[in-house]
Amino acid sequence: MTGAGRVGVIVVAAGSGSRLGASVPKAFVPLAGVPLLGHALRGVLACAAVSEVVLVVPASHVESAQAIAEAVCREVGPAGAVTVVVGGAERGDSVASGLGALSAGVEVVLVHDAARCLTPVEVFDRVVAAVTAGAVAVVPGTAVVDTVKQVDVEGLVVATPDRSSLRAVQTPQGFRRDVLVRAHAASSDATDDAGLVERLGEPVLVVEGDARAFKVTTPADLETAARLLAEST
Ligand code: CTP
Ligand code: MG
Repeated sequence: MTGAGRVGVIVVAAGSGSRLGASVPKAFVPLAGVPLLGHALRGVLACAAVSEVVLVVPASHVESAQAIAEAVCREVGPAGAVTVVVGGAERGDSVASGLGALSAGVEVVLVHDAARCLTPVEVFDRVVAAVTAGAVAVVPGTAVVDTVKQVDVEGLVVATPDRSSLRAVQTPQGFRRDVLVRAHAASSDATDDAGLVERLGEPVLVVEGDARAFKVTTPADLETAARLLAEST
């Protein structure tokens, strides 16, 4: 597929953030006064190719998400449509909910974790460019610095994969819409969406990721994000 159609982004933000342990769901935790979801949406809307965004949030936080979207859109100026829908029990359910809310003209879908709230626009641009150039599925990834061991249930090492062949993958992950829909129809049980597409036997391309696209998971990650943000302003 070349000269692809409209680009829609599903931002999954419906998790509780149990490892972060805050009093509100993770995407609604403030970072320098702005909820993680606000930072994430600002990053998404910085990508000129994006024409619509679906925010997938907990049922308790629909209005809060709408207010965040309005605030960000006021700040960044005219943006594509942003809609808010309710997520599900597992991340895959939340992605499926977002897929159901995309409009008919969308042919390229990016799925992004709100928790990767400082992802630079270059990563979005690289993913969109690769799908537009014909890739079926694209994930950003970074080289692995530690040696990785595969272990059994006893903790005994089974194998040491060649580090140069390993990538730690991030979001946004980009897909041809029809392929992502087919992958989710088959199963939604995977830690990332590209994993579902791999099971279909479709090729998944890795493009360069970015350290700033790390996922806020623990309180220490939130401190890291605050430091990065302070350094960049
Ligand atoms: N997510 C979601 N719906 C779920 C679970 C997760 O939309 N049912 C989203 C989260 O909001 C997050 C992204 O998927 O933006 C990555 O998930 P993770 O970092 O694991 O977030 P949580 O599940 O909220 O955190 P935890 O696992 O610590 O509870
Ligand atoms: Mg989780």
